[in-house]
Amino acid sequence: MLTEKPAWKDLQKHFDEVESLHMRDLFASDKRRFETFSLEACGLFFDFSKNRITHETLRLLLSLAEECDLDDKRQAMFSGEPINNTENCPALHTALRSDSRKPVWVNGHDVMIDVREMLNGMREFSSAIFAGEITGSTGEVFTDVVNIGIGGSFLGAAVVCDVLMPCAGTGLKVHFISDVDSKEVIDVLDMLNPQTTLFIISSKTFTTQETMTNAVTARQWINTAHGSDSAWINHFVAVTAYTQRARTFGIRQDYIFRIWDWVGGRYSLWSATGLPIVLYAGMEQFEQLLAGASEMDYHFLHALPEKNMPVIMALLGIWYIDFFAAGAQAVLPYDKRLARLPSYLQQLEMESNGKHTTRQGQVVDYDTVPVIWGQSGTNGQHAFYQFIHQGTQLIPADFIAPMRSPYGIGEHHTVLLTHFFAQTEALMKGRTVEEVRLVLKSMNLDKVDIEKLLWHKVFTGNRPTNTIVFPELNARTLGSLLACYEHKVFVQGAIWDINSFDQWGVELGKMLAKDILSELRGTDISDHHDASTQGLIRYYKRHAS
Ligand code: F6P
Repeated sequence: MLTEKPAWKDLQKHFDEVESLHMRDLFASDKRRFETFSLEACGLFFDFSKNRITHETLRLLLSLAEECDLDDKRQAMFSGEPINNTENCPALHTALRSDSRKPVWVNGHDVMIDVREMLNGMREFSSAIFAGEITGSTGEVFTDVVNIGIGGSFLGAAVVCDVLMPCAGTGLKVHFISDVDSKEVIDVLDMLNPQTTLFIISSKTFTTQETMTNAVTARQWINTAHGSDSAWINHFVAVTAYTQRARTFGIRQDYIFRIWDWVGGRYSLWSATGLPIVLYAGMEQFEQLLAGASEMDYHFLHALPEKNMPVIMALLGIWYIDFFAAGAQAVLPYDKRLARLPSYLQQLEMESNGKHTTRQGQVVDYDTVPVIWGQSGTNGQHAFYQFIHQGTQLIPADFIAPMRSPYGIGEHHTVLLTHFFAQTEALMKGRTVEEVRLVLKSMNLDKVDIEKLLWHKVFTGNRPTNTIVFPELNARTLGSLLACYEHKVFVQGAIWDINSFDQWGVELGKMLAKDILSELRGTDISDHHDASTQGLIRYYKRHAS
């Protein structure tokens, strides 16, 4: 067990020694702290100096990674070993963006051949759409693409499309339908022309209920508008690992893009799941995204552990989760285009590492992934930041921002960044009683009023943050950033000894929902349900129509 490892025990002792240290003092006593605890790779600058660590903390955390065989586990992932042991398959998202000519073998087959074919297929298909050679049923060129998919078949592509908005010059607009809520479908379809809309049904399994329900509605919408039961055929593309299911649905063979079981849903944006990105921003932008991710893969594989961005990010997370008992981690991008990044990371981190058993099925006696949450920009400063500054819980936070904005209206971006820098400084330094007293005195308050306000205005500070900055947010830096988080998740999974690539936790809900659907449609209610669920189903039947 992890908690028996020497480095873990040393970290526990070390925690008792450093818990009370304040980062203000650590900065004051080490003029080179910023230089020591920061690093640059793949166009990203990572400042981790505002963390509650010393040189010794880092040394011990790195020893922990070594004792957990991180090197061998990382090698196993990149070389295609079946590290997803509960589903008996590799996790080879790194092969999807590899620019190496080296083969990657899975069951005696070089998957790089498939990857190259997939990319060629995406290139050819998108070129034919742009050239107007592939059209809708009435021969009109496509103007809009709607991706129907959920989870990993939605979030990654949506984040990238948001970011690439300023350079999306293909002429096609992109939309996403993920939830099965009718309002979501109506909101998108209402603004579109069925003659010029192309749907991508993106589902690794091609069975996900929300996606299939939305696909059937979209099919009906196209057919009704065209007055033909077969019109939809020219408006539907599928991305799936189960091509036969897509054919059974009726999708044209030449409009089916294949992914494989070795591409995890939440790691799939680099595959044909990224087709909406290509149609929206072009193949070159998609290739830039892959190049940024590939550069991060190289860094992760080859950089020394103490200079390795995903390794350091992961270890800092473990330090707070397992030693400071931090139950949450905030993600705070200061760029509207990254508004969906917190949701994307929620799935990436919480679906990957929200597990309580080791790879061998033993229940763990330590915490794994915390709650990941956040919001972009300064709105959060006027809402939940109060809790991060003065609440009773320790919330480590990642602050992320580009130094330039492509929009460049007046001083907007400068003002935005002013807040960005001020927040991490305030969280680190806080404000002492003496400082507050001085401020209140300078406001000419009398003694009674000063004492009344004093403690309300004290900030303990010592609240940890990582800062990730880069010159501009483009396809390449985004590729590096997302791959960095993927590898952070991998390192944490390797240390916690859990399988980061399965998701049994979501299966139970999916299964029960299927049973309940037949009960909501019919008259019977199974007595297998608990009294609460039976009561709620009865309530539905009384009020649904
Ligand atoms: O939420 C569970 C999950 O299986 C995710 O892992 C996946 O990204 C999502 O559902 C969608 O699955 P599919 O691509 O098979 O429709």
